[in-house]
Amino acid sequence: MQDNNSNNIQTKLLTDSSEDISVAAEILKNGGLVAFPTETVYGLGGNALSPEASGAIYAAKGRPSDNPLIVHICDTDSVSELAENITEEAKILMEAFWPGPLTIILPKKSIVPDATTGGLNTVAIRMPSHPAALALIRESGVYIAAPSANLSGRPSPTTAHHVAEDMNGRIDAIIDGGPVGIGIESTIVDLSSDVPTILRPGYITKKMLEELIGEVSIDPTLIHPDPNIRPKAPGMKYTHYAPAGELSIIERNEDVSDTTPEEKKAEGEAAVADTINTLYNKKKSEGFTVKILAPSEHSHFYNAEDLISVGSTSSGITVAARLYGALRDCDDAGADFIYSESFKDYELGGAIMNRLLKAAGHRVIYV
Ligand code: TXA
Ligand code: MG
Repeated sequence: MQDNNSNNIQTKLLTDSSEDISVAAEILKNGGLVAFPTETVYGLGGNALSPEASGAIYAAKGRPSDNPLIVHICDTDSVSELAENITEEAKILMEAFWPGPLTIILPKKSIVPDATTGGLNTVAIRMPSHPAALALIRESGVYIAAPSANLSGRPSPTTAHHVAEDMNGRIDAIIDGGPVGIGIESTIVDLSSDVPTILRPGYITKKMLEELIGEVSIDPTLIHPDPNIRPKAPGMKYTHYAPAGELSIIERNEDVSDTTPEEKKAEGEAAVADTINTLYNKKKSEGFTVKILAPSEHSHFYNAEDLISVGSTSSGITVAARLYGALRDCDDAGADFIYSESFKDYELGGAIMNRLLKAAGHRVIYV
């Protein structure tokens, strides 16, 4: 186990073989920290029922300890050990979406230490679907508290390499399970309030939830960020995922629906590209390092040398899967300025833009 800020542990690099999962499980049982793949992003795991392990997670991430952790489980029976008032809605959602990228919030039982919930009387619970994550939870017999395995303020890791960049020397082991499938964190829905409320958008959408449990609301701070209103998920108030360079999003002013004629869409896309290129050329001529984020179908608009491709217009999931990696690429390139197309009209647009807008500090240029 490490002490605060120490940077000198020998971090073991493990595979997702059953032998290596056993090594990782042993580390967790002994109070250590292991990063592991999930279907959303890599998590930084420790024993959720141990205040010391939770404390070590905060120290390794350099994260404020009032920001509660999600408890990862491998079977639904565990929920009744951790939480109370398990509503009918909770049962329906667990049945429909677990294992998978949905986190539910319920009133906590006393077995869950305050150190894990940041002092809240509720607990966030999720059953991930990644086989290595499930195997690790099962084999260790430990409920695993796991935030995303990035240093606080950096984009969440979607590969083991990203984890190693941030966590080498700070944690006991990293399980490499290859690149993740979804790339943005789980949807969080609060079931401890009267109306189920989405605290963080993700792959499981409002519509998917409402089809099963009726009305679901959205934490108002997600729609109109207001510095005077506290988001219900404490983690949503921090400036997350910010690249070192100044990121701006360039967006068309009008809504482009599926019924918009093709020429009109193409016109809008060209107008956005024009604006991005004007901004790009100006900063380039001033000697800055500049990068452009756009889907692969729009690569012909831009200077290939400075284009970082982010998925495909035909599938929002490919954009989500690449987003955090693209932001890290900007940092690696030492970008001073970054200009990104908007992804709001794509599949998963709401969840993607929630992350991109934060990374941009809500800097949007309308065309
Ligand atoms: O996809 C995910 O959920 C990933 C993977 C590793 O499972 N985990 C993740 O954890 O994103 P983290 O710690 O980066 O984000 C957890 C979010 C934070 O915004 C936190 O404030 C919120 O969940 N949260 C946790 N417990 C809560 C609670 N009891 N009430 C309200 N929000 C809570
Ligand atoms: Mg995080």
